[in-house]
Amino acid sequence: MGEDRSGAGPEGGLPPLKPPPDRLYGRARGYKLRARQQKLLDIALPRLAFAPDLASGPLCAFSPRPSKLWVEVGAGSGEHAAAQIAAHAEAGLIACEVFENGICSLLSRLVPEGGEATASLPGNLRLWADDARALLRLLPESSVDLLFLLFPDPWPKARHAKRRFVHPVLLPVVARVLKPGAEWRVASDDPTYQAWVNEVMGTQSLFDMLQHTRERPPGWPPTRYETKALREGRTPVYWNLRRR
Ligand SMILES: C[S@@+](CC[C@H](N)C(=O)[O-])C[C@H]1O[C@@H](n2cnc3c(N)ncnc32)[C@H](O)[C@@H]1O
Repeated sequence: MGEDRSGAGPEGGLPPLKPPPDRLYGRARGYKLRARQQKLLDIALPRLAFAPDLASGPLCAFSPRPSKLWVEVGAGSGEHAAAQIAAHAEAGLIACEVFENGICSLLSRLVPEGGEATASLPGNLRLWADDARALLRLLPESSVDLLFLLFPDPWPKARHAKRRFVHPVLLPVVARVLKPGAEWRVASDDPTYQAWVNEVMGTQSLFDMLQHTRERPPGWPPTRYETKALREGRTPVYWNLRRR
């Protein structure tokens, strides 16, 4: 018999709610970094790092102070984050990414070679080079206007279901930081993850499902993983959820 890849329990429902352990399963390090990448991490990253000032609130981390707070979980190489901050000066975006090479790609989009210490940087972008779950636990309640989770690692094997970011145990963590009425955008090209999101979202009461479509909605800039999925013949699904 083939392995159950859905993560569903024996009755077809969700598995027992064991909290996902707070350790990272993806890679944080890839190949040895080149000199330019090391400079981006050592010099440019601290200039853009999100340093939460709990007394003043997260919006004070941006300059000028934006009117909205957006968070992207797993920003990868940063093409989506770069497009969003260019199109939305009113929003301050915290892009979370743990994989060093992804952080370097994101930084290299913004910082010309030699300008690591001096190039002017976007005032409405900050980076969280750590686990996004730690950021979500740190941000004040009802502080986020929009959360992006685009093409998360799918962890398609059933025994890895607890590693998925969309998880019954993590939903309250996400819900706590979102303002009532705030939007959560999720996209995935993996059929197991697509079925999983529909199942998890169908059995919770924190979010309304506004949209569930196979056409990328307007205002959703493409990502690297999405482009790869389309090239390889997989059809993404895009969910638009709203915090109740
Ligand atoms: C499959 S990639 C997708 C990247 C990008 N969103 C895209 O669509 O091209 C998922 C990314 O999420 C990052 N990631 C996974 N878990 C994370 C976490 N807990 N916090 C921050 N980043 C995470 C991984 O390092 C990886 O770069």
